[in-house]
Amino acid sequence: MTDIVVLGSTNMDLVAYVEKPPERGETVTGREFRTIPGGKGANQAIAAAHAGGTVSMIGAVGNDAFGARLRSTLDRSGVDTDHLRTVEAPSGTAHIVVDDEGGNAIVVVPGANGTVDHLAPGDEGLIASADTLLLQLEIPTAAVVAGARAARAHGVRTILTPAPARPLPPELLAATDLLIPNEHEAAVLTGRTDPREAARVLLDSVPEVVITLGAAGSLYAARDAQPLTVPAPRVTPVDSTGAGDTFVGALAVALGEHRPMREALAWAAAAAALSVRRTGASASMPCRSEIETQYAS
Ligand code: RIB
Ligand code: NA
Repeated sequence: MTDIVVLGSTNMDLVAYVEKPPERGETVTGREFRTIPGGKGANQAIAAAHAGGTVSMIGAVGNDAFGARLRSTLDRSGVDTDHLRTVEAPSGTAHIVVDDEGGNAIVVVPGANGTVDHLAPGDEGLIASADTLLLQLEIPTAAVVAGARAARAHGVRTILTPAPARPLPPELLAATDLLIPNEHEAAVLTGRTDPREAARVLLDSVPEVVITLGAAGSLYAARDAQPLTVPAPRVTPVDSTGAGDTFVGALAVALGEHRPMREALAWAAAAAALSVRRTGASASMPCRSEIETQYAS
């Protein structure tokens, strides 16, 4: 029995920690280098599993050492990987520079993720058995659309994180129940920098929107409800890589438990805040008891 299916990417994050990122043409000396499993799809899967969800992942890893580690990290987090293919390609990598303020800059090289351009036999059945499908944009759009359509056909809730930001095909939006962009992605999708205005525009295409606002929390908007702003706990950021994915994974679990939206958003914000206090994407995702403690404080 699977509650949440994630259709998306796996990347090995190759992370350099520096005081200040280099300008073009400049070389700077970093403090530390780490390889940490990431990728928006795998991050959301691990975040949801840590938060207490029953999770399966559809995607691909390469037939290399990174691929083996990406798979075993998902397995150890309790994510079902029966639908995670191993393909003849290098694993996806993300080349990340994290600065002393906890901010980052990322280059993603898709590798194996680029082969995920369709649903394989059995994938649709897995999606049909779930309550929620989580989607992002680090695999080819054709597969994201196919997944969203399969979910819609079987009455499964679809949550789309439109990251990395790019224009979305109308058929994808038409099959999306909840869209969760950050402020930047919302601006790319709508041309509006004000989150409230962006949310209003997005509601023409999808019934519900959550715009994540970083340290300022999140904004929820729906067609027939008053917008809702939910703050985030105040933390000293160490590494925000994967914070958005942590938020989405935890939110999917809370909504699956039929918690009211305000409570679910606060719970997800607690999870994301905890992840920001530690380095790495998947490595920083809190377990359910940690989220509960932070949420209660
Ligand atoms: O959302 C964070 C993720 O984006 C990182 O783990 C990295 O893999 C990039 O894909
Ligand atoms: Na982190």
